[in-house]
Amino acid sequence: MSRKFNDSGNTGDSSDLSDSSAALETAYRHALRFHEARHSQPPAASADFNALLEAFGGPTPETGAPAAEVIERLVVAAEPGLMGTAGARFFSWVVGGSHPVGVAADWLTSVWGQNAGCYQGAPAGAVAEQVAAQWLVDILHLPRECSVGFTTGATMSNFVCLAAARGALLRRVGWDVELDGMFGAPPITVCIGDDAHASVLASLRYLGFGERRVVRIATDEAGRMKVAALRVALARCPGPLIVIAQAGHIMTGAFDPIDDIATLTQARGGWLHVDGAFGLWARASPARAHLARGFDRADSWATDAHKWLQAPYECGCAFVRDADAHRRAMTIGASYLPDAGDAIRDPLHYAPELSRRARGFALWALLRAFGREGVAAMIERHCVLAGRMAQRLAVVPGIEILNEVALNQFVVQFGAGEAAQQHDALTVETIARIQAAGVCHAAGARWRGREVMRVSVISWPTTEEDIDRAADSMIAAWRGVRGRHAKEVLDERRTAMQA
Ligand SMILES: Cc1ncc(COP(=O)(O)O)c(C=O)c1O
Repeated sequence: MSRKFNDSGNTGDSSDLSDSSAALETAYRHALRFHEARHSQPPAASADFNALLEAFGGPTPETGAPAAEVIERLVVAAEPGLMGTAGARFFSWVVGGSHPVGVAADWLTSVWGQNAGCYQGAPAGAVAEQVAAQWLVDILHLPRECSVGFTTGATMSNFVCLAAARGALLRRVGWDVELDGMFGAPPITVCIGDDAHASVLASLRYLGFGERRVVRIATDEAGRMKVAALRVALARCPGPLIVIAQAGHIMTGAFDPIDDIATLTQARGGWLHVDGAFGLWARASPARAHLARGFDRADSWATDAHKWLQAPYECGCAFVRDADAHRRAMTIGASYLPDAGDAIRDPLHYAPELSRRARGFALWALLRAFGREGVAAMIERHCVLAGRMAQRLAVVPGIEILNEVALNQFVVQFGAGEAAQQHDALTVETIARIQAAGVCHAAGARWRGREVMRVSVISWPTTEEDIDRAADSMIAAWRGVRGRHAKEVLDERRTAMQA
């Protein structure tokens, strides 16, 4: 067979074995270099959109290129546009740091190329998933009878759990939503805290609940659902009921008062779902478990392994107490898809996708590498580090921490004591300076009508030294902004006096 060669004299034929091995070796070399430099990596991308477009762009390739060269080009194009999310001083969003054990397992998952939809398509993938599921239920102290699905993230895990809830509740009132859909179905009331994560509302939209139809329950200063408000709402809404509670608020890390919520929901025969994208992991740490005590009273739980377990993206977990409701909501069947039978787990019954990556390998490897103790120690370490950074900041005049730092999250305002408009502007300016300094990355948000900086300590490589360097940089940025502001105020006064 004659082979067509491209400009550089190499074959673009995808069956060229030496070239594909070179591609893997190139990726390995760059991955190792990237990993080893994690403490000195810039926390934010240096290239802007146009630079990245130029680096990746160009006309549609007509001919192939040597695989290893393509990987080299990919690295050159991508690296200036990488965020330091896998690094040690990235605090902006609640994102894990892709631990190398999970990444290594994930490389193999890609090379093995298993289609983990059904057992027959990926037997090892299905069994790794089953074992990882059992270990997770154990580590998170969830009810033994839970069935577990692995998804792309907490958004889809919330979706899976709420789909199971919708099916089970409607079946109880004689409606088969899986067959007959939502048109004409008896209404379900969905109660959710006013401070729920935006992605839960997206999941509700996908399920036909409609964002405007859900009943928003007032929350307190830390973002926790107010039980009295829930009680009032429930009294007004008869019929099938879903209540969605939160373990770990995105700003403050606060937990909803689950015992009261569970009692009220259960008294109504409702389904209690928990969005615990990161906060559910507190249950794995003996030192923090009290924060999430009682959350096992729920009917379903969503969490992310790509957050606190440091799994590579995309790895969410959906736990449903009623295994039958879970399976009915998600199952896919076709004559060409071999059924593994009742004794063997077929992943396609528990998550929305059919063809998908074998997420179980990375999960299994991470849980095996950390062990129960390692997971607990990491969670505790991050909470202690968050407290350390908050304390360092809190003693500086003009910096205020707006929440009790019980978990790994906190909210900061710069310019405390100034008028609202001033401290908003000072906070925005300080965040910009912190990001420009390039020591760490923390981002802004609006919280209770104020501009704030959010800090989330959740990445495996973060050390005390990283926390101190980041805190020093934040304090220096604030002092710079405060100095400029003080000079401006002085100048204004002088001008006013001269006038
Ligand atoms: C509380 C909470 N729920 C849901 C999500 C959505 O998770 P994912 O991005 O994995 O879909 C997040 C993400 O940060 C979160 O913090």
